[in-house]
Amino acid sequence: MAVTRTFSIIKPDATRRNLTGAITKMLEEAGLRVVASKRIHMTRDQAEGFYAVHKKRPFFGELCDFMTSGPVVVQVLEGEDAVKRNRDVMGATNPADAAEGTIRKTFAEGIEANSVHGSDSEENAKIEIDFFFKPEEVVG
Ligand code: RTP
Ligand code: MG
Repeated sequence: MAVTRTFSIIKPDATRRNLTGAITKMLEEAGLRVVASKRIHMTRDQAEGFYAVHKKRPFFGELCDFMTSGPVVVQVLEGEDAVKRNRDVMGATNPADAAEGTIRKTFAEGIEANSVHGSDSEENAKIEIDFFFKPEEVVG
């Protein structure tokens, strides 16, 4: 299995509850390595740009409000089959549907305040990494 990269966000509901370390530990225990990380407060433009694929969805405005409501930690994760590995440890979007032991089952407050983001394909991972990081900020 090839070593690949994915993009992760620790969302405002999680940074507010001081869960950055606990979530990062679960990512590391799942076989992912943090090769870039920074804490930022997203601007409205960044949130709307990042979630542009969801522009037509009814929750778009609320989602952008939420993602700009506090600091987030944006990360690049590396590991074997990183996109799937990260999605597996994150769990389902709605924590009510997430499997035991996943980050969302353990920590999420609801379907929107669900603690983490993870890229859904390698193609999107590349786009999302480039959205927040310069090449020299990613150190494997
Ligand atoms: P993510 O992109 O954050 O990793 O999550 P995901 O793939 O599991 O979910 P996606 O369908 O891409 O939705 C993006 C984020 O929008 C919020 N959401 N709110 N109110 C709602 O019905 C609703 N549905 C989704 C969540 O924060 C979700 O992670
Ligand atoms: Mg998604």
